[in-house]
Amino acid sequence: MTVSEQIPVAALGPAAPDAAPVPPTTRDRARRLLELRSRTVRGDEPATERQHRKGKLTARERLDLLLDPGSFTEFDLFRRRVSGSAADGPPTDGVVTGTGTVHGRRVYVYAQDFRVLGGSLGEVHGAKIHKVMDLALAAGAPLIALNDSGGARIQEGVTALAGYGGIFRRNVRASGVIPQISVVLGPCAGGAAYSPALTDFIFMVRKTSNMFLTGPEVIKTVTGETVTHEELGGARVHAESSGLASFVYDDEESCLEDVRYLLSLLPSNNHEPPPSGDAGDPVERRCPRLADIVPANPKVPYDVRDVIAEIVDHGEFMEVHEHWAANLVCALARMGGRTVGVLANQPLVRAGVLDIEASQKGARFVQMCDAFGIPLVTLVDVPGFLPGVDQEHHGVIRHGAKLLYSYCNATVPRVQVILRKAYGGAYIVMDSRSIGADLSFAWPTNEIAVMGAEAAVGVLHRRELASADDPEGLRARLVAEYAEELMHPYYAAERGLVDDVIDPADTRFMVIRALEALSEKRPELMPRRHGNPPL
Ligand code: HXC
Repeated sequence: MTVSEQIPVAALGPAAPDAAPVPPTTRDRARRLLELRSRTVRGDEPATERQHRKGKLTARERLDLLLDPGSFTEFDLFRRRVSGSAADGPPTDGVVTGTGTVHGRRVYVYAQDFRVLGGSLGEVHGAKIHKVMDLALAAGAPLIALNDSGGARIQEGVTALAGYGGIFRRNVRASGVIPQISVVLGPCAGGAAYSPALTDFIFMVRKTSNMFLTGPEVIKTVTGETVTHEELGGARVHAESSGLASFVYDDEESCLEDVRYLLSLLPSNNHEPPPSGDAGDPVERRCPRLADIVPANPKVPYDVRDVIAEIVDHGEFMEVHEHWAANLVCALARMGGRTVGVLANQPLVRAGVLDIEASQKGARFVQMCDAFGIPLVTLVDVPGFLPGVDQEHHGVIRHGAKLLYSYCNATVPRVQVILRKAYGGAYIVMDSRSIGADLSFAWPTNEIAVMGAEAAVGVLHRRELASADDPEGLRARLVAEYAEELMHPYYAAERGLVDDVIDPADTRFMVIRALEALSEKRPELMPRRHGNPPL
């Protein structure tokens, strides 16, 4: 479709050579409008084919998958670049904006159309996005961005850059007010990548989506490194290394289906409770399998996702950042029909220690749940923070403080369950009562202590052990004494640091009952401009 084909509004029907021109009727105009609309919606066919050949859908095909059928209302279809009195850009200006519903609930969307000027962001493109963002915020409805763009429109210079600035500012203003979801389905290069980075969740698709600040060509010039787009900023990189991508998929269809599922778990805004309904899974359902899943020996690994699957409704949960910092599992699920955010140490990966990346991942998840009124359930089985020069030098204190800060700051209902062991600073950070968990339960296998018995004996009895005739015998006796005195399951309960020691089989029931009891929690907040989190 050439630009001249698109809106030749002047010529509405041929005039007979001799007759006086007949003014077009309303019906003529309506027919012409339909024609223009459908031509613009259809778009350029060769460009559509090129998009499909790359393994990508078009912006409108994506919206069809994302939104409930027939629910989409488009804004600014005919808007385009105007220079002086002449409109000289293509309609839409490379972005489709509007509103629709997902599972019957209102959302606002924009989808960049790579077929039009490479989906690049010029002044009009930016203004359309600003408008839909403003409407989403005013309506208190989630904003979903489908990104597929060559970045700032080079020929529009600084106006394109200003367009990005307006998006970033709106992303931040909307943060914690409405859920913002970025779906990266093509290139998202340069400063453009900062918009997804400011939103709550990023979805990516393997092989077709990528995000980077400076591309392979610039890197080659500056550092001499040779790297492909996929190696530099593909979905795998951001899912496993940078921690940017919350979810990754093999194709756009499953990606957009999961965006719909995620929306079913989130409230529309921070004033509404998350959606709830009849769980269809009995609250009283006991979970006897839990006692088999978690071995009593604190050194034997198991997959904590099996524990999560046992206690949540229908065993369904949506893991966020599944492939990054896998030693801490963060997942959204439902319990008793209500959305919960679950954090769980993962003994299967690095014994479930907390480290820099796990702290960053957990902090962001806690913050997101708290912003949107999603109660927190923390399953603890943690040997401590990861020791090491590398961790210390790269800021495990600074990053660990993020998780601590997020928990301490969270005012949603918070329930802690100590499955097995909880040592040292990591015990405190994993939502202990002392930092504000509302209720804490422990299984009868729990060991809460400053450190494990063997390490503790090594510190407390170093001299005695060094001069003993039978150091190993002495060590074994001291370890047994320490464990019996300080690490028995009731030690913390006797001191009010856990509220109850429970049968593992009752975990689901006890957590749901606790969350019900806390559902009317009214936090008292000190007035302040805002805190100063260790960002
Ligand atoms: C104008 C652009 C464009 C851009 C692509 N196009 N990017 N037009 N400004 N930024 C146009 C192309 O000229 C082409 O037009 C059409 O879109 C399709 O692009 P192709 O290159 O044919 O597609 P493909 O081979 O898939 O490559 C996609 C790409 C590449 C990797 C994104 O186009 C590219 O490298 N573009 C430039 C990326 C870039 O450097 N952007 C600026 C980043 S800096 P025709 O007419 O031939 O179909 C930035 C700053 C933001 O964004 C700062 C915010 C604070």
